[in-house]
Amino acid sequence: MAIDIKSKHEIEKMRRSCRLAADVLDHVEPYVKPGVTTGELDRICHEYIVKHGAYPAPLNYKGFPKSICTSINEVVCHGIPGDRELRSGDIVNLDITTILDGFHGDTSEMFFVGEVDEAARKLVEVTRRSLWLGIQEVGPDKRIGDIGAAIVEYANKQHGYGVVEAFCGHGIGREFHTAPQVSHVGRRGTGMRMRVGMTFTIEPMINEGTHQCDVLEDGWTAVTRDGRLSAQAEHTVLVTDDGVEVLTLRESARR
Ligand code: MF3
Ligand code: CO
Ligand code: CO
Repeated sequence: MAIDIKSKHEIEKMRRSCRLAADVLDHVEPYVKPGVTTGELDRICHEYIVKHGAYPAPLNYKGFPKSICTSINEVVCHGIPGDRELRSGDIVNLDITTILDGFHGDTSEMFFVGEVDEAARKLVEVTRRSLWLGIQEVGPDKRIGDIGAAIVEYANKQHGYGVVEAFCGHGIGREFHTAPQVSHVGRRGTGMRMRVGMTFTIEPMINEGTHQCDVLEDGWTAVTRDGRLSAQAEHTVLVTDDGVEVLTLRESARR
């Protein structure tokens, strides 16, 4: 499948959608506290997205019923917002995808609820660092397999965590999920070469224990097979002449 190269004009639209997705994380963060339900977080994000002239991509996407994904503790990804109240000690991923002026921006981040123990904090720290090690492998003529290789070398070989294989990063633009697939367990020197103007996500899911996942009866919620914790972080990136531009940087990181 041919990989879409974005024009200058399209890149500007990607930048705007991605910036909005990052702004949603900034907006919702103060509400991520013990006692709030994931359904309330969904509503807060939905309203912010719509108010800014965009549409929440998950809503009705292949039947997904809500506007964001909320993945708590052993949930790997695609958790469905609902009545579950956050409790002190939880770790939760909020995954935001906006469609603004026809273009998708996709980003997710982990939040600590109240007091979180050391093991969970470490998992989240390693997950965030994994994402950035993957991002460092992006650049013109570099190979896509090196992204996952960097992630697996650090998160698995160095820290012993399970790197999820069942879900990948993806090309993104007018479509939510398109080629290329971006594996988080790639091998060095394999995969297609990146070209200037490509946009895709990197979104490693890192498990405390086994990398194996199961999907619950609802058809969406992916959980760790051993019930141990999972964490994820995601950015949308653009391949540039001199390397990479992270399109979904949050305001604090943009300055
Ligand atoms: N945002 C997720 C991703 O990073 C996809 C969510 S699809 C949904 O690719 F339907 F669950 F929302
Ligand atoms: Co994504
Ligand atoms: Co996402």
